[in-house]
Amino acid sequence: MKKELNIKHPITILAIDTSCDDTSISAVKIAKNKKETEQEIYILSNIVSSQIKIHQKYGGVYPALAKREHQKNAVKTLEKALEESNLLRKKGQIKANRDAKSKILKKILEREEKLYKKLEPFLKKHKKPNIQAIAVTIGPGLEPCLWVGVNFAKALAFWWNLPIIPVNHIEGHILVNLFSRTKKIKDMFPAISLIASGGHTQLILIKKIGSYRIIGETRDDAAGECFDKTARILGLKYPGGPAISAMAAKKSGKNKFKINLPKPMIHSKDYDFSFSGLKTAVLYAFKKKSKKTRKSKAYIAEMAEEIEKAICDVLIRKTIKAAKHFSVKSILIGGGVAANNYLKEKFREKIAKEIPKAKFYWPSRNLSTDNAAMIGIAGYFNYLKNKTKNWEKITVKANFRLKTR
Ligand code: KG4
Ligand code: ZN
Repeated sequence: MKKELNIKHPITILAIDTSCDDTSISAVKIAKNKKETEQEIYILSNIVSSQIKIHQKYGGVYPALAKREHQKNAVKTLEKALEESNLLRKKGQIKANRDAKSKILKKILEREEKLYKKLEPFLKKHKKPNIQAIAVTIGPGLEPCLWVGVNFAKALAFWWNLPIIPVNHIEGHILVNLFSRTKKIKDMFPAISLIASGGHTQLILIKKIGSYRIIGETRDDAAGECFDKTARILGLKYPGGPAISAMAAKKSGKNKFKINLPKPMIHSKDYDFSFSGLKTAVLYAFKKKSKKTRKSKAYIAEMAEEIEKAICDVLIRKTIKAAKHFSVKSILIGGGVAANNYLKEKFREKIAKEIPKAKFYWPSRNLSTDNAAMIGIAGYFNYLKNKTKNWEKITVKANFRLKTR
């Protein structure tokens, strides 16, 4: 492992995430206290340009469309992120003799022509911001989407002569939990992290920052994917997680419809998950009902509540089992599903009852779903370990897995 660098603080990192359907750019500043012993993380900006409306029609993310939107949104998202962080500096005079540099820029962005057309004038009009590195998600995620972010990062790193920190998206979802809790970093580990999103459901044992072991994961659909697919069956909008949660909140009174959904693998001895059977069970139960019942609010609300419970109860049970087995000091959750209120409340209740000594950390709603601030925070800890690269050496790893050590 590379040695930890003794770098001068404060440092500011510009972070980019285009792994799925959100174009996100953030500036994160890390300072140290006077004795240089403790870090303070500040999120200067965390802009997310959402594509939800575009993908809603398809009931899921359509990669070619997402790539096009990332190209369209990247420069304005960057401009907003720099502006909000007070890092945007206009040039007094625009020099015309930048042709050699523009040529290389064009070459870097040869597959992102739309992005090049917007980026070149932006770079000519603005000075280099006061940042020390660029962090970018290189995987896991949708390959065409990841490439836009990576090529964008390369172009910026080349133009501003900065190093790139390649970041694993899942590490971002984990380490975002360090935001504003930095003083207790040492007391947090070993930890168990549950990452549940639209693309992933993993249980990860963390010995310390940078040392990860995936101890279990889904064998088929991800938890968020199950929310999305079952929501579609019920005629609810994409993304399904928030839609199901909102419908479940509308349920009132006792259960009327005798819905009995499975909680797949809840008692299995391993730490794996499986959600495709639950989706099928929802489909069968739904089809059995009359058209009138299927359309009634009362039925949909009761079904939504049952789906939410089935998914979350399995996630909680397995996470707590792992936390007990590995005697961890804390449980960290992350990914879009971590925005779910039932999940957080039930976790709190169960941890207090079953492992009261363990601390429970969860990100705020906007830090649970995809965002670039989490990439900036993870990027910082990799920067400390000297894991930076020259822009020419960065590539996408669509199936990037956290290291098993
Ligand atoms: O982490 P994320 O933003 O993107 C991926 O990396 O996949 O997660 C998106 C997923 C979607 O499946 C969405 O339905 C789910 O997170 N989600 C939720 C909630 N908010 C988003 N699931 C349950 N409850 C929520 N409140
Ligand atoms: Zn994610």
